[in-house]
Amino acid sequence: MPCTVIVGGFFGDEGKGKIAAYLAMRDKPDICIRGGNGPNAGHTVIHGGVQYSLRLIPSGFVDPSTSLLIGPGVPVDPTVLLDELRKTDSERRIEVDNQCAIVEPRHKEQESRSDHLSKKVGSTKSGVGACNAERALRMVKLAQQIPSLKPYVGDTVGEVQKALSENKKIMIEGTQGTFLSLYHGTYPYVTSKDTTASSACADVGVGPTQVDEVIVIFKAYVTRVGEGPLEGQLDRDEVARRGWTEFGTVTGRERRAAPFDFKLAKRAVQINGATQIALTKLDVLFPTAKGAQHIEDLDKGAKAFISEIEKQTGVPVTLIGTGPKEEDLIDLRTVSRSARIQAAPIVRRN
Ligand code: IMP
Repeated sequence: MPCTVIVGGFFGDEGKGKIAAYLAMRDKPDICIRGGNGPNAGHTVIHGGVQYSLRLIPSGFVDPSTSLLIGPGVPVDPTVLLDELRKTDSERRIEVDNQCAIVEPRHKEQESRSDHLSKKVGSTKSGVGACNAERALRMVKLAQQIPSLKPYVGDTVGEVQKALSENKKIMIEGTQGTFLSLYHGTYPYVTSKDTTASSACADVGVGPTQVDEVIVIFKAYVTRVGEGPLEGQLDRDEVARRGWTEFGTVTGRERRAAPFDFKLAKRAVQINGATQIALTKLDVLFPTAKGAQHIEDLDKGAKAFISEIEKQTGVPVTLIGTGPKEEDLIDLRTVSRSARIQAAPIVRRN
């Protein structure tokens, strides 16, 4: 912290929910604010033995003292939001920006009727793209016009700016992944807005100079749901053999998979201006890493993989996911660089 942005580095589904939940429990941010796109996103959080699939509420909800905000750049589907508020018991600490665009049922219908979106792009058909298009035409409804949202609507940008001026801790949560960005992704197989750190900041009304850390999240292998290119894609049997088979949080579709892509990782680090990398599911690649909480517990192969990521991207890997639970994680943020080099051994920047 104090102002940290977290974003996905590949095609979404990197484990942003897990990392955000860990950071919330560990760092106790005063505010967790959701930027990024709308309820087409799905963030999985396992907390207190319960699995939550969140599409709008910030994953930091796990810390009961954190204020939960949704920034004005995020399209909001009131049905999804109200359902999540109940499931997470967060009604008393949520604030939705009065300028959030509203996803209406007709947006979902519009996307379902479109062969281009359904068949070619492989959209989640959550209505988010149609809503963003309508916002660009300046015809969309805003949260301040919706009676069911009245108790939750406010000026989130004012809240965040006040917190920043008081040097409070803020976590900004982006969605999807860098290469699903409307600008930087594999167009047209992308989502309906930019998904990089700069946009996540703009979504919540935070300027570039107000950010301290940008954490880009990579999974130990690459997955992609929906259509579009995936370099090094493995066939289904091989994916299953490696234990990489996964299903989408929002649509339940089977994800395609490929080995970790160093070239894409480097580009994601650049585009997001990343200062740190969080690496998830290391235990899926290296089973001996399962549940590890210390770098010393990793075997040579796992350490070499981490070193290679640092070498090729020039950014330190500071958080390493070793299992689905919040506590299955190695946190190197407070470990000095020299200690980490000895433990890993980590190869330095190019
Ligand atoms: P849309 O944004 O729902 O229209 O989907 C456009 C593309 O982005 C499709 O390939 C989706 O599968 C993908 N997509 C959208 N949101 C997510 C996400 O949260 N995780 C992974 N893929 C996503």
